[in-house]
Amino acid sequence: MKRAKIVGVGAYAPKRILTNAELEKMVDTSDEWIVQRTGIRERRIADPSEATSDLALRAAQQALERAGVEPGEIDFIVVGTTTGDMAFPTTANILQHRLGCRNAGSIDLYAACAGSVYSLSVGAQYVQTEKYRTVLCVGAECLSRITDYTDRGTCILLADAAGAVVLRASEDDSGILDTDLYSDGKYWEFLYQPGGGARHPATHETVDKRMHFAKMKGNEVFKVAVRMFGEAAERILTRNGFVADDLDLFIPHQANLRIIEAAVKRLKVPMDKVMINVDRYGNTGAASVYVAMEEAWSSKRLNTGDLVLLAAFGGGFTWGAALLRW
Ligand code: ACO
Repeated sequence: MKRAKIVGVGAYAPKRILTNAELEKMVDTSDEWIVQRTGIRERRIADPSEATSDLALRAAQQALERAGVEPGEIDFIVVGTTTGDMAFPTTANILQHRLGCRNAGSIDLYAACAGSVYSLSVGAQYVQTEKYRTVLCVGAECLSRITDYTDRGTCILLADAAGAVVLRASEDDSGILDTDLYSDGKYWEFLYQPGGGARHPATHETVDKRMHFAKMKGNEVFKVAVRMFGEAAERILTRNGFVADDLDLFIPHQANLRIIEAAVKRLKVPMDKVMINVDRYGNTGAASVYVAMEEAWSSKRLNTGDLVLLAAFGGGFTWGAALLRW
């Protein structure tokens, strides 16, 4: 089998910055509390005229340009998202048209905040098996659209952004070495959006009850996330004959700085080998790992030959890890 390799990475975040100071005026919270408990100082929020596919388009265009790949060369598109433009068609379908990928099949993949690692893993399989030559993997969210700005437990965390990577077969030993995906639906009530689906279709009542916003038991999410993060990361390293010391960079899902710190402590990876931008972007769901990867790449923290670990978790729960030789 071929090994899939990231040949281009892109990201886009909306221009509008929502600061902790602004949130202090909206809910009973403080900059000090938010920074201490989450590490987040500001986050980006999409303009009312923007939707998820608009963010995805900008990120994908940058990734294609950097890869030197024309839209017509893309064979398949996977978009990880929980906040697609509409129930259907898929956001991937809209992106396929707007990018001009006339030869591409496309799917949306719903794995909540694990949508980055999930989409990368799914996209990589097509390249590895040589079913497709060029695959575009995207993580894109407008989480602000499902955020209740009267709920201080969630509105301080969630934000909007998109990231994208182009995959092609590797010519050498570099590329995606392994991916691991997990899920356990018994935790669904810790983090979910009850309204708008088949169980609770939109009615005046569901809207009045604010059922179209994300509901979260933050403390419960926290405890399980730390454990899952750590286990998935340890397992993929061990299975591939590595130890934490071998890592050059760890790019975790940017949910909360304290979750990252706890997972990193368990893994015994020094913080200077951990990519962190949650302070400026908050939790951007399926986009977060890709957005952090783009920042690592453009700031030259990702170099040829580096051993890189990705790990993410999200509602459901879904979680997973990926190991790459850059
Ligand atoms: N400002 C001030 N006080 C607050 C706020 C706030 N924004 N939010 C909660 N509090 C209060 C609570 O009401 C509680 O008060 P009480 O003791 O009087 O009842 C107190 O702070 C402590 O609440 P906890 O929930 O125990 O606080 P915790 O330290 O766990 O932090 C947080 C809350 C930030 C939500 C944390 O639990 C967390 O980050 N959890 C993980 C969330 C997450 O990552 N979700 C997404 C993962 S999956 C995905 O990415 C979609």
